[in-house]
Amino acid sequence: MDQTPNTYHNPVMVDEVVDLFRPVPEGVIVDATYGGGGHSRALSSELGRNLIALDRDADVFEGAVHRRNFRDLGAILEEVDTPDVAGVLFDLGVSSHQLDQAERGFSYRSMGPLDMRMGPDAAVAAGTIVNEWDEDTLARVLREYGEERFAARIAKAIVGARPIRDTIHLANVVKEAVPAATRRTGGHPARRAFQALRIAVNEELAALETGLDAAIDALLPGGRCVVISYHSLEDRIVKQRFATGAAGCVCPPDLPVCGCGRAAELRILTRRPMTPSEDEVSRNPRARSAKLRAAEKVAA
Ligand SMILES: C[S@@+](CC[C@H](N)C(=O)[O-])C[C@H]1O[C@@H](n2cnc3c(N)ncnc32)[C@H](O)[C@@H]1O
Repeated sequence: MDQTPNTYHNPVMVDEVVDLFRPVPEGVIVDATYGGGGHSRALSSELGRNLIALDRDADVFEGAVHRRNFRDLGAILEEVDTPDVAGVLFDLGVSSHQLDQAERGFSYRSMGPLDMRMGPDAAVAAGTIVNEWDEDTLARVLREYGEERFAARIAKAIVGARPIRDTIHLANVVKEAVPAATRRTGGHPARRAFQALRIAVNEELAALETGLDAAIDALLPGGRCVVISYHSLEDRIVKQRFATGAAGCVCPPDLPVCGCGRAAELRILTRRPMTPSEDEVSRNPRARSAKLRAAEKVAA
């Protein structure tokens, strides 16, 4: 298969990302989600920056990428002895390359195995969750990670149809489980269930929380953290982490004097998330759900 960078993944909001990193101090920029390297190449060519790139997927295009989970960012930066981090970029989720490879099992539109692991570090494959987890736990995954209102019905249908053989079998079971009237609204009926399973398989939300903490910790004063997310669960985590960093003091409000001594560590650069232009969405429909948030580390 042709794996040139352009067919691998069409990077989202590249100009916005480059502009946000333009004023950061001397130091490296970490691309925590290298994928096809579109953002890395732009940051390197337009800003002349040195980069450290990570991706948990062993299948990424470029040899110099650390094939690691960004939840280990703190340890990785120590290993490569990089004290001066001027920026960290997270472009979350899966790449087009991962989605388009039917054998990875991410797509409800093409026949594939129930896998969905972004990398070898994922603890379980989707097939284990779908065919072995109990009905209540399955329903909770669908509700919490897919914001799926028919979670209980879908979980019951999945358990009743076991063994589920492949992605298309699963997509059909989900489709049959949701009320007929809702099948025609809000995109493919299996979209939320597939999102939920992918998040569970890859423990995406926990990785994001840990990775964000490590990134903010590592940044130099004036350094920036930029995060592009593609669904509300991720965006909420980023919004809350940035808000906590910008709030400083964490003492209970009824304490007469501050006892924690914490000053704000961040300045939020995007009160509302930035979104791609209409022009970009028309060129690259996968950019449609993107939300970009950025924050700057303030001097301690
Ligand atoms: C949307 S793509 C990034 C595309 C990239 N910015 C580009 O320009 O091609 C997301 C990438 O992040 C990787 N990824 C997702 N979660 C990760 C994690 N916790 N640690 C490391 N990489 C991760 C995925 O494997 C995927 O390659």
